[in-house]
Amino acid sequence: MRLGIAYDRLRYEEKELFNAAQKSGYNPVMVYLGELTVDLTEGQRKLKETASVVLQRCVSHVRGLHVAAAFENVGVKTVNSYKVSSLCGDKMLTSLALAKAKVPTPRTLVTFSPEQTLNALDALGYPAVIKPVVGSWGRLVTRVRDREEAMSQIEAREAAGDSMNQVYYVQEFIKRPERDLRVIVAGDEIVASIYRYQPGGDWRTNVARGGRAETAKLSGGEMETIIRAAHAVGGGVLGVDAMEGPDGLVVHEVNGTVEFRGAASVSDTNIPNKIVQYAASLVKR
Ligand SMILES: Nc1ncnc2c1ncn2[C@@H]1O[C@H](COP(=O)(O)OP(=O)(O)O)[C@@H](O)[C@H]1O
Ligand SMILES: [Mg+2]
Repeated sequence: MRLGIAYDRLRYEEKELFNAAQKSGYNPVMVYLGELTVDLTEGQRKLKETASVVLQRCVSHVRGLHVAAAFENVGVKTVNSYKVSSLCGDKMLTSLALAKAKVPTPRTLVTFSPEQTLNALDALGYPAVIKPVVGSWGRLVTRVRDREEAMSQIEAREAAGDSMNQVYYVQEFIKRPERDLRVIVAGDEIVASIYRYQPGGDWRTNVARGGRAETAKLSGGEMETIIRAAHAVGGGVLGVDAMEGPDGLVVHEVNGTVEFRGAASVSDTNIPNKIVQYAASLVKR
């Protein structure tokens, strides 16, 4: 067994995954994309011999997808798979998968022009949330309180000229407590559940923005919703994010390259070990 860890930026998580794999005797191999050449014509065997299974841990969505495609092409399983990563890396694709599986989600509209975005916001009502379809750490996730704020947001996005801003992901603002839920799932198992409390001065709860982690105890129904969300995107090692709305839990995001520093700081479970065991189980069978 050789467990590969493909990464573009070495974070706490990748180091911990390496340590956990080493402790279990899975011979971890760090695959740093900055020093990787994928030889598409002659390098198939070399790539295949790199690892028996690869944890795809890239911060960059696009890099992660491409390295997963390269490994899968030579028959090396990646966690998560190309398919799952591609769904989770794009909020619209995730929402489509969740809606299809009838997992409760916030009402969401997608538009492709500034004018239609204003119409969509009028239909949802204010406050509402605009998000980039690709992104994380709460970056550019914006709450707009009225039409005037919406117009200036849309103007700024248009001026930035980024192609990702040509797709507007517009969502109802969920009246939730000052926290949301981050649940780490591996296969069919809930590994850890935490609340993330929004820091002072921000309405977003991301740990990367200073959100404070606290252990959460989920009800049976909540656990079922979370597992259904994980299955809806194809399963694997996932960070399911949900909010406690007025009508129960709504899932707003499923992260394909889950950060767990916040969760590990309060959870009794050895999260990296669970992830590594799950990856190993895919090739041991
Ligand atoms: N519709 C919403 N209503 C209320 N809060 C939201 C909503 N969408 C996002 N948030 C808050 O913003 C944070 C970041 O949004 P999210 O969709 O998870 O984007 P990212 O991928 O950047 O983490 C969430 O964790 C939550 O705290
Ligand atoms: Mg999130």
